[in-house]
Amino acid sequence: MCGIFGCILKTGNAASAIHKGLKKLEYRGYDSVGIATLQEDRLFIKKDTGKIDNVHAIHNLDDLPGGLGIGHTRWATHGAPYQVNAHPHTDCNNTIALVHNGIIENFAELKTELEELGHTFKSKTDTEVIAHLIEEELKRTDLSLVDAVRETVKQLDGSYALAIISVKEPDKIICARKESPLVLGVGKDSIYVASDIPAFLSETNKSVVIEDGEIIILNHSGYEIRKIDSWKEITREPKTINWAPEMAEKQGYPHFMLKEIHEQPLRLRNTLRLQNQYLELMTTFLDRAGEVFLVACGTSYHACLAASYMFSKLSFLATHPVIASEFVEQHGKSVNIDSTLLVVSQSGETADTLDAVESARLRAATVLGLTNIVGSTLTRVARVYICQQSGPEIGVAATKTFTSQLSVLTQLAIRLAKKRGKISHVEIEEIEEKLEQIPDIVESTIQHQEEKVKQLAKKYKGKQAFFFLGRGLSSAVALEGRLKLMEIAYIPSLAYPAGESKHGPISLIEQGFPVIFICPNDSTRKAIISNIMEMKARGASIIAIIEKGDKEIKKLADDYIEIDTELPEVLSPIPFVTPLQLFAYYMALECKRDPDMPRNLAKSVTVK
Ligand code: AGP
Repeated sequence: MCGIFGCILKTGNAASAIHKGLKKLEYRGYDSVGIATLQEDRLFIKKDTGKIDNVHAIHNLDDLPGGLGIGHTRWATHGAPYQVNAHPHTDCNNTIALVHNGIIENFAELKTELEELGHTFKSKTDTEVIAHLIEEELKRTDLSLVDAVRETVKQLDGSYALAIISVKEPDKIICARKESPLVLGVGKDSIYVASDIPAFLSETNKSVVIEDGEIIILNHSGYEIRKIDSWKEITREPKTINWAPEMAEKQGYPHFMLKEIHEQPLRLRNTLRLQNQYLELMTTFLDRAGEVFLVACGTSYHACLAASYMFSKLSFLATHPVIASEFVEQHGKSVNIDSTLLVVSQSGETADTLDAVESARLRAATVLGLTNIVGSTLTRVARVYICQQSGPEIGVAATKTFTSQLSVLTQLAIRLAKKRGKISHVEIEEIEEKLEQIPDIVESTIQHQEEKVKQLAKKYKGKQAFFFLGRGLSSAVALEGRLKLMEIAYIPSLAYPAGESKHGPISLIEQGFPVIFICPNDSTRKAIISNIMEMKARGASIIAIIEKGDKEIKKLADDYIEIDTELPEVLSPIPFVTPLQLFAYYMALECKRDPDMPRNLAKSVTVK
């Protein structure tokens, strides 16, 4: 949930390259930013609270000498976002500087020990203890910087992705990884280290993923990877990343979120081209499982909830969608060797989700993973994983990764249906045919309905709260539409399976209260119509997402958005969520919010 970046350039100014790289990582956290560079035997540091552009306007982050340096953009966990808590952090004598993404769980006791040794601390962060530990190690013997870092990280409990520089060895950056993501970028006359690939993609598409428990020495001639425990050297060649640099740019859109909503048809086409053997292998695991848990957080949980209906309807497989942070409490003791977890996490780094995975693995359960990031922790702890091919998602709000997750989960449900023979081939073929059309359906819905959604946001701007209601699979779409509106427009919203509204929530309804109904023409339509009537009778303003031509609901609704085709019910979530993504985006603009960087949130929540 922070972004770290480092580089060594044969020629040119490290500070401006770091500034550029941090801008690409801003979605990982943006309450503070800092850069440290080395020249001859001096350390130069600039850091402050605030978004990168604001700090740059005050301090000119590019104006630091030297071709080697590190930088950090922060999402505060320990220590409020004050200048003194911004990274980089240094030792007592300002000879070592480091940046960190993660959480050091034993930092308090380490800090006490270091203070007893005479160290003085400037910040309230967990990170600063690492700088003083390295300083202490360098005092004890004539250890090299990498040896001192190695001895230091052995003392750390928790998670870290670190980049460290020292005036004592001004030609190196030492990095280390445990749980938090770290990748190298290998350029012709440069080398980069970052939390995520987009940070250096405009400079090189050669990337090396760093694994847990590895320490790396970067210098002008390249990189050396070693195991922290055994010190064994690891040979790992760079992989070519097929993300063109502009893919991580906005491509002319005002915000990454809008670009990524519009990108969904393209991404959904990619998601339909997944490698068959991984889908087949995962389907086999699901087919043989004694019990299946679908485990995730946030938007990924909503994909799991929708998938639970698909697996039941198509393959008669009962699955248990579980919010990851509740998994251990709810199922920790019942999980066993016959349990299978299908874990969904676009970042593959969500701490709550990885916690659930670790607890299940310790009880011999089988863990399957669905993620968007190759090399993420989830890909290393899962027995089988599928990368959903959404491309980099920079906006904090998940959009294209959600619909790609739904596509993969639908494909798994279809394969399982074939394997189990619970529904007719004719029905399966119809669903497969329509699934191929989904990218076009989404494209046409965006094309024909975006302007209308934009007008709806203007019309309903100023409403203090919204209801999102759906039945069956659409209850997951209702939850997702609500989360989008809450997280980027900061409007309190409720979402329920529509049948629940009469068991209490309906008491909130008064004249003009906006209720958004998701109404595909499926087995739930009749019941949804009576729910619409209930709300109308109490003065609610009805906004309905309907299939094109649904005259009956058009008459009942105050406003409606039409989805351009009739769909088998298991396919409705993908096109029906798209107008809700756009509604949240345009409402955020109406409320003068920043859709890409909503307050208090980060793209990957790597804290529990
Ligand atoms: C969704 O818009 C949010 N950004 C958040 O709920 C997110 O879905 C959740 O944190 C899970 O992230 P993951 O898919 O990377 O595990």
